[in-house]
Amino acid sequence: MKFPPAFLDEIRARLPVSEVVGQRVKLKKQGREWAGLSPFNAEKTPSFFVNDQKGFYHDFSSSKHGDAFDFLMETEGLSFPEAVERLAGMAGLPMPVHSQESQEQEKKRSSLHEVMVLAAQFFERTLQEKAGAKARGYLADRRLDANVQREFSLGYAPPDRFTLRDALAAKGVSAEDMIACGLLVHGEDIAVPYDRFRDRVMFPIHDRSGRVIAFGGRAMDSSVKPKYLNSPETGLFHKSSVLFNHHRARKAAHDTGEAIVVEGYVDVIAMSQVGYPNTVAPLGTALTSEQCELLWRMAAEPILCFDGDKAGQKAAFRAIDMALPLIGPGKTLRFARLPEGQDPDDLARSEGEAAIAQVIAAAKPLAEMLFLRETEGQRFDTPERRAALERRLRELTRTIADETLRRHYQEDMEARLSTFLGSGKPAAAPRKWEPRGGGGRSGWRPNFANQGPRLGLAGQPLPKRQGLMGRPKDAPRDIVILAIVINHPDLMERHIEEIAALDLSNRTLAAFRDQFLALALESPARVEALEAALMEERDRILRLASQMPVWWCLRPEADSSDADQVLRQTLALHRKARALNKELKLAEKALATDANPEINEQSFGRLRDIKENLADLANAEAAIEGFGALSGRKAPPV
Ligand code: UTP
Ligand code: MN
Repeated sequence: MKFPPAFLDEIRARLPVSEVVGQRVKLKKQGREWAGLSPFNAEKTPSFFVNDQKGFYHDFSSSKHGDAFDFLMETEGLSFPEAVERLAGMAGLPMPVHSQESQEQEKKRSSLHEVMVLAAQFFERTLQEKAGAKARGYLADRRLDANVQREFSLGYAPPDRFTLRDALAAKGVSAEDMIACGLLVHGEDIAVPYDRFRDRVMFPIHDRSGRVIAFGGRAMDSSVKPKYLNSPETGLFHKSSVLFNHHRARKAAHDTGEAIVVEGYVDVIAMSQVGYPNTVAPLGTALTSEQCELLWRMAAEPILCFDGDKAGQKAAFRAIDMALPLIGPGKTLRFARLPEGQDPDDLARSEGEAAIAQVIAAAKPLAEMLFLRETEGQRFDTPERRAALERRLRELTRTIADETLRRHYQEDMEARLSTFLGSGKPAAAPRKWEPRGGGGRSGWRPNFANQGPRLGLAGQPLPKRQGLMGRPKDAPRDIVILAIVINHPDLMERHIEEIAALDLSNRTLAAFRDQFLALALESPARVEALEAALMEERDRILRLASQMPVWWCLRPEADSSDADQVLRQTLALHRKARALNKELKLAEKALATDANPEINEQSFGRLRDIKENLADLANAEAAIEGFGALSGRKAPPV
């Protein structure tokens, strides 16, 4: 008995391996994986790991390895069909009927896939031919050059009514199959079905394994409506369960542990170009729960980065209601805010990579967005209004299905509410989402000063200043990061890979970090029993941190979302500084090696820009420490 691959894929998509394994093995979240004691061997320390993003388990003690089906076959001795039946039940899917008919359907699907490949090739070819000149010009104007066109298999559908139809017919494709693929417009009153996509730039849409299942066609002239024409629903394409760029973003998301959602196809491409290949988009509709589940297979906390306009905010707010019933521990959303009136493509083009990085780094947790949505721009100056707010928050948190998380949300909302209303002054609003202060109507710009405590945000590898003891001075940002690691172990777990790989300012800190992480991973309880030397270093780090202006976000009792924000910002700036230093080296090299005066002039300008950026970062570093305008406090003695 052969199961349709699409059915098995659907089971895999719906059921995290950890859920299946978790019924037999007690699993504990460890970074991006789950760890537990091997079900195949008696052991005391866990050597059995489950990775939901990759969809498999690996047992180091027995070298066994497999997916959810294998797990049931291995541990319960089920046959493959039995395992399929069990998992289909868990996933809430009816078993496929194995009729002649369904086999034919499967055959039909694979022949439709072939038709889609032919159509995609036709569009791609046409874009590069003479007929595609205007479209190539349009793409070039949008900075989608030949490389990008190739990478995303962009194409062009010519203006005439029958070009695609004739090209496919010449390859033996029936009109019926073209219609089934959504490539022709047909209907009772249409005598001769004709090409659906005409005079449009074509964006192929793939399923998660990279097969073309639909197209989005962009009109080049703003007078043509609709701006984007998408394939209709077909046997291959169900838009509510597809994400644009899913097949490429999967791996990138897994590598980075992060996934980003934007609104448009071009936004996805622009994000990929500035270093975020882990980006996907829904297909012109609100984010659905199915898409959300796909996102969680990519990363624990996908970041929604919707357009900086009313529609974008509305889409983000809608996503909250969609997600609340589905979220759980280690399974939520974050929200990034773009400057007013811009989409990711605009921002990437106008301000580049660093601006995008800043927007992403400042993404807010779901709980904060929820509270913001319910309070922003409203007055709570009567008991009735305050009571209504409290009731609304309670009703909303009640929709969270996961019991533990629901309890935590209730506590979180209560705490926010009492801070918010406690002073009795409605003006004491939480951090604003909208521009505030001097920004006026000029629009929101990514600016950390808008977001709570102003934090110095340095990150360049430290100038190797010598401290009194003859070793390089501690970088304030390293102290900040390590203080969070010590005080907020849950945050440490989330960023463990990045923290483990950080280039720290001196060996003492690096050694502390290594031993502390190793210990924390092995057994969180043992952190309590740190060896004396480690303990001493830990206390020293905390002492330094406690003298910094940002300390109130780092304290053990600080709100974990505040600490998280500081951690993310500090890490983001660390990354930014690394990139700047790399650029600096390249620019210096270019300057030294290129004799062409024109290029030399450019390199020189570039070098100056980079140095200016680095100087800004150095100032920010000083601000973390407590120098500078922020605080009159002196740096702590080292
Ligand atoms: P937007 O209108 O935000 O456009 O649509 P955009 O992505 O910035 O596109 P450009 O930059 O003008 O080319 C966002 C997404 O909504 C869907 C498409 O998927 C698009 O990428 N959409 C939009 C449609 O399906 N139909 C439309 O008419 C418009
Ligand atoms: Mn756009």
